[in-house]
Amino acid sequence: MTIIIILKFIHYLAIVFSGGVLVGGGVIQSVYAKANQIPDLNTAKILKLLGYIGLISLIILWISGIILSINLYGGFIINSAFTIKIIAAGFLLGLSAFVNFHVFNSSKNNLPPNKTIMKIATMSGRGLLIIVLIAAAIAFY
Ligand code: HEM
Repeated sequence: MTIIIILKFIHYLAIVFSGGVLVGGGVIQSVYAKANQIPDLNTAKILKLLGYIGLISLIILWISGIILSINLYGGFIINSAFTIKIIAAGFLLGLSAFVNFHVFNSSKNNLPPNKTIMKIATMSGRGLLIIVLIAAAIAFY
């Protein structure tokens, strides 16, 4: 009982963090894109840190989500909305890992991250998060 409440709390907290990263990172990037500028060194560091936080919160969402599914529903076959939720969550995790890898590699080579990759990734990330949230709302209705 208590452990379920704690896990749900962790799940919700991780949602806040992953959403915050997408909104915050997106706003910073769009301000720079509109000004036609490349983020300065400190902003680039912030974006990199936000990327890590996003990836870590998604990993925490997966860990807490897996334990919750097993304990509350005995596995991952709950309903079709839940299946859509975990597929979209899987894409989101993959996307976040890819973006982190790309940002890590470009900063290693002293280059700014590719603008197009970052724009597409931010847009897809937002879309996927919306899908996960709608699917979660339907799955546990
Ligand atoms: C981006 C990733 C994710 C987001 C944004 C997310 C979002 C949510 C939300 C909003 C809820 C609350 C739904 C409700 O109680 O009505 C929830 C609950 C839950 N999620 Fe996730 N989730 C994510 C990943 C996962 C994953 C990967 C799993 C499992 C593998 C999972 C399993 C669960 C379970 C079992 C519940 C609890 C349902 C209940 O209270 O009966 N979640 N999630």
